[in-house]
Amino acid sequence: MNIKQFDSTGELDLYAARIFADMLASKPHAVLGLATGSTPIGIYEKIIDMHRNAELSFQSATTFNLDEYVGLPRDSSQSYAAFMEERLFSHIDLPPERAHIPHGMADDLTDACIQYDQLLAQQPLDLQLLGIGHNGHIGFNEPAHALQGGTHIVELKSETREANARFFETLDDVPTQAITMGIGSILKARTILLAVKGKEKAEIVKQALTGPITTECPASLLQTHANVIVLLDREAGRLL
Ligand code: F6R
Repeated sequence: MNIKQFDSTGELDLYAARIFADMLASKPHAVLGLATGSTPIGIYEKIIDMHRNAELSFQSATTFNLDEYVGLPRDSSQSYAAFMEERLFSHIDLPPERAHIPHGMADDLTDACIQYDQLLAQQPLDLQLLGIGHNGHIGFNEPAHALQGGTHIVELKSETREANARFFETLDDVPTQAITMGIGSILKARTILLAVKGKEKAEIVKQALTGPITTECPASLLQTHANVIVLLDREAGRLL
C-alpha cells in the first residue's frame, strides 16, 4: 500500500483530483469508480476546478458509482444519483449515458444487480475511489462473517444509518437497504484510491491498514490488492 499523509484536507483533495486528471490524460476512455458521502466532496470540487481550467475532460470516460439506497427515487435529494448530479456530474462534460449508478428503484432489484455486474465485466474499472465507514465498510459492504463478490442488496447496519442520518430529516427516513458493488468488483479495479479524513476515522484506518485481514473489517481486504493508494489527512492518520 502506498500511504500518503497530508497536513490539510485541501492538499489531499488536490492530490486525489490530480490522480483523476493524470488517469484521464493518459487514458481518456478510462473507467472510473466513484463514491458519495462527505469525503469525496472536496475532491470533486478540485476536479470541477480543473475541468473549468481545461485541465481534464470526462468526454470519453465512463463512471460507475459504488452504491445507491433502495427505495429512493433518483430525483429525491438524498439519493446518491442526486448527490452525484449536484456535486460532480452537472459541472463536468461526462456524457450522462456513461454515468452508471445502481438502480435502487428497479422493479426487480436482483436483476438490476446482475445487469450492473455485466456492465462492470464489460468495462473493468481503471480507478476506484473509496471512502471508509466508521465500521470499516467500503461501498456498503458492511462487516459480516462472509462478504459477497458481486453487486448485491445489503441491509444497512444501524451505525451506518445513524452516520448517514445527517443527510435526512430523521433517522427513520434513512433507507434500511442499499445496492452496493461487491468486494470482488472493488478489488478488480486496477488502482484503488482510498481517501480518509478526520480524527473519528483514525481507529478504523489503523485497523484496516495494519490489522488482520477479515471480513469483519471489509476495508482490511484492501491489504490484498497490489495497487492501493491511501490518502489520509493528519487526523485520520494519527494512529499509524
Ligand atoms: C459512499 C460509500 C461509503 C462511504 C463511507 C464514508 O458511496 O460507498 O462507503 O464512502 O460511508 O462516508 P463519509 O465520506 O461520508 O464519511
